[in-house]
Amino acid sequence: MKVTFTVNGSQESVDDVWEGESLLFTLRERMGLPGSKNACEQGECGSCTVYLDGSPVCACLVAAGQVQGREVRTVEGLADGGRLDPVQEAFLECGAVQCGFCTPGLIVQTHDLLARTPEPSDAEIREALAGNLCRCTGYEKILDAVRLAASRKADAR
Ligand code: FES
Ligand code: FES
Repeated sequence: MKVTFTVNGSQESVDDVWEGESLLFTLRERMGLPGSKNACEQGECGSCTVYLDGSPVCACLVAAGQVQGREVRTVEGLADGGRLDPVQEAFLECGAVQCGFCTPGLIVQTHDLLARTPEPSDAEIREALAGNLCRCTGYEKILDAVRLAASRKADAR
């Protein structure tokens, strides 16, 4: 089947999508958008998190056919041209990236958190990121990155 949807602001069509194909597969293998990672493919780790119509979802759990006519935003779409989003910058600056497999999902989830809750408490950060698993960092650097991104965004307002 053919699926047409908006990804990172531009309308795209993909041919020959099979019925059981995930959005994650379509993005990574057909559309040249490998930012969203495939770690568990079972909705357990959050490494594949993307926005679908403005809400974060696990792209591995969404059938590609379900996004017909809808809007997807991936981690690649958070940057403004050549300028990284403050959340992306904060993860780099705080050393919150080791192997990087969890990072795109954490960045999308953090981006959503700060859009809804600009000054989150540590408890709110932990709750928002509870579905995003990292095997490397021990989470302290990730918390630092979310706090830094929040303060940068506050300064920019
Ligand atoms: S790859 Fe989708 S939740 Fe793990
Ligand atoms: S940096 Fe390796 S899983 Fe998080």
